[in-house]
Parts: sequence; C-alpha cells; structure tokens
Amino acid sequence: MRVIIEKDAQAASERAAKLIADSLVTKPDFVLGLATGSTPLGIYEALIRKHNDGKLDFSNVTSFNLDEYVGLGPADPNSYRYFMQESLFNHINIPPENTNVPDGRALDFATYCQQYERKIVEAGGIDLQLLGIGRDGHIAFNEPGSSLGSRTRLKTLTSETIRDNSRFFGGIENVPRLAITMGVGTILETRKCLLVAFGENKAHAISQAIEGAVTAQVTASALQLHPDVTVVIDEDAGRHLKRKSYYAEVEESHRLLESN
Ligand code: PGA
Repeated sequence: MRVIIEKDAQAASERAAKLIADSLVTKPDFVLGLATGSTPLGIYEALIRKHNDGKLDFSNVTSFNLDEYVGLGPADPNSYRYFMQESLFNHINIPPENTNVPDGRALDFATYCQQYERKIVEAGGIDLQLLGIGRDGHIAFNEPGSSLGSRTRLKTLTSETIRDNSRFFGGIENVPRLAITMGVGTILETRKCLLVAFGENKAHAISQAIEGAVTAQVTASALQLHPDVTVVIDEDAGRHLKRKSYYAEVEESHRLLESN
C-alpha cells in the first residue's frame, strides 16, 4: 500500500486526479471505477479541467460506479446516476452508453447484480477503482460485517451511514435503507485501487483501514489484501496514522526514482 499524505483536500484531490489521468493515458480503452459522495468532487473537477485543456480523452473509456440507492431513478437528484451526470459525465466526452451506474429500480435485483458483475468482466475488468471511505470504514456500501468475498448485491445501510448521508436528503426519514453495491470481493479483483479521504472525521477509519487488522468490521481494511493500492489523504485524515514518517520516506524514494 502506498500512502500519500497531502497538506489539504485540494492538494490531495489534484494528486488523485493526476494519478487517474496518468493511468488513463496509458490505455485508451481504460475501464475506470468511479465513486460518489463529497470526497470525489474535487477530483472530478480536476479531471474536467484536464479534459477541457485537451489533456484527457474519454471517448474510449468505460466506467462502472460502485453503488446506487434502491428505489431512486436517474432523474432523482439524490440518485448516484444523477450525481455522476452532474459532477462528471455531462462535462467530458465519455459516450453515455459506456457509463454504468447500478440501476436502483431494477425489478429482479439478484439477476441484475449478477449481470452487473458480468458486464464488468465483459469490459475486461476494472483497471482503476476510485474509492471513498465511510466513517465506519466502509468501501462502496459494504457496511461493517460485509463478507470480504462479497459480490455485487443489495445491502442494508447502517444507521450511521443513513445519518451521514441525510444531509443530502433533507432528513433521515428520506434516506433509502437499501443500496446496490459492488462487493468487497468485486473491488479486490480490480487491477488498481485509489482510496481517497479528507478531514478529521475520516482519521479513525483511515488508521483502522491502513494500520489495523484485516477485518470484515472495517471493510476498507480488505484493501491490505489487494496487490496495488494507493491511498491519497490530507493531513487531517492522516492524523491517527502511526507510520507517517515511513510513508514520507517511501514518497521520497518514489521522487528520486521518477527523477532518474
Ligand atoms: P463521502 O462518503 O465522500 O461523502 O464522505 C464516502 C463514503 O461513504 O464512502
């Protein structure tokens, strides 16, 4: 795991966007895994800027999002499909048919989730998956207790997640209780993961995920089993990490290697 600690959320967003952009240019038909929430917004703004500057072409890119609320359609401003259109897809040249966000209104969820998994495989697998982290250590909507081998499926949200996300819904009572989410096992099969977190309210989850034991109680800790993970956080989110000086040394080694 490579841990990059930037001064603030803006610097961390720029760094994460650069890592994504550098990966995208290596492979025109890149398969990009995307995330929703407050955390990726600055990253998406930076990617849009790079696209407008002519540095990023999404015309052959395929995307897969991690999750969606059950019951919300694409026109609902709280749906993750709507969020992705507004925050990224409407501002870049990714073909609409190449963008995949789970359908919160699927009729047969079991079959639909299997199809979503199959679609990822048929696209060649996800080259890079962007991930946020919940205060309870979840990745996607894999709440504490999710099997580390889980696949795309329905998940009941915890009261903590419902409370955290109620800021978008104008009240706890309006937040859906169920979501479709890629599983931890699905995420572990991606070629590269980029975990991003900002702010002190994520510091505990980040320290457990990176320096704690691998446990289904903190599903982000499963990333310790993944062969290629980069974590980009700001200083506040890194506040409880014990091995910060080592992570800085590793970054110094990377800088030396890259300048040679
Ligand atoms: P946030 O959500 O980016 O809005 O903090 C992250 C998550 O819950 O995965």
